[in-house]
Amino acid sequence: MEALEAIFTRRSIRSYRDEAIADETMQLLLKAAMSGPSCVNARDWSFIVVHDREMLNKMADANGRPAEPLRSAAAAVMVCGDLNRSFPPAKDYWVIDGAIAAQNIVLAAHALGLGSVWLGTWPQKERVEAQAKLFGLPESIVPHSVIALGYPLKESAERDVFESDRVHMEKW
Ligand SMILES: Cc1cc2nc3c(=O)[nH]c(=O)nc-3n(C[C@H](O)[C@H](O)[C@H](O)COP(=O)(O)O)c2cc1C
Repeated sequence: MEALEAIFTRRSIRSYRDEAIADETMQLLLKAAMSGPSCVNARDWSFIVVHDREMLNKMADANGRPAEPLRSAAAAVMVCGDLNRSFPPAKDYWVIDGAIAAQNIVLAAHALGLGSVWLGTWPQKERVEAQAKLFGLPESIVPHSVIALGYPLKESAERDVFESDRVHMEKW
């Protein structure tokens, strides 16, 4: 799939077929995650790949109702910030670097015929704490977002997203 086609046709997918994701496919998603830009090339992220049904359900419990798609997902990737690797003068860039990695995962998933939905975790304290506890994370590793993944149950509709009034030319 062309890059622009992937960007224009990606939608959040929350219902999935009962079909496993091959290891090679997951590997491509992780490579995509690690291919994005990061501040001073800090690459201040780590990823937790989960296929285990019980663990996916516990991740859904940890994030609450908006994370229900995890209950039918074939797998999930939790994108984590790695504070020990972040840029010391401006550590908060880890949040942006994590978001770029997450976006690359959802785009690559779409390009490979998978459906995905980004499940917001950071900065919601109770979700961050619950996921950190579930995975026994060290303090330097912060849950950023969970990406639920699976083959889509149905095709998603295209839509027109362009809003000209959001664009300001040369000045506000
Ligand atoms: C930071 C962030 C957090 C999100 N959290 C959730 C979530 O918890 N549950 C969910 O179902 N969708 C979540 N989404 C997906 C959005 O609802 C979705 O991207 C938005 O409605 C636009 O739809 P689209 O992805 O199909 O373009 C999240 C998206 C982002 C970027």
